[in-house]
Amino acid sequence: MIKPEAVAAGHVGKIIDMILANGFRIHAMRYTRLSHHEAGTFYAVHKERPFYGELVDYMASGPIFAAILEKDNAVEDFRKLIGATDPAQAEEGTIRKRFAESKAKNAVHGSDSDANAAIEGAYFFSTRECY
Ligand code: CMP
Repeated sequence: MIKPEAVAAGHVGKIIDMILANGFRIHAMRYTRLSHHEAGTFYAVHKERPFYGELVDYMASGPIFAAILEKDNAVEDFRKLIGATDPAQAEEGTIRKRFAESKAKNAVHGSDSDANAAIEGAYFFSTRECY
């Protein structure tokens, strides 16, 4: 997912360029928007964390750009490409170093396992939107 602040700032194309330049293939992609309830469900794993309310409000605050990416070792390689959760800790050359504003407004989300990638992909896309 490209998150609301990065979409609003017009960074979608530049972020997709970085993703393609790093060897990922786009299996599905489009704009969408999460309701407050949907954002809460998507991030339910963080329900007990102090930042949960802020995160859910933020993720429902505007359109996002969702994509399913393909690559060998995609989950690990994408997490390397996006960089640390906190952009202040993110390495040079990462998406978050270049585009993230803060720990919450950190430009992109990447799935943390193949199992969650399958769940999150199916949340946004039907099979007829995947190629
Ligand atoms: P993401 O990769 O989408 O997964 C969980 C999100 O929670 C994370 O990116 C951040 O946007 C957010 N997050 C994690 N830690 C904090 C924090 N300390 N304060 C605010 N938001 C956070």
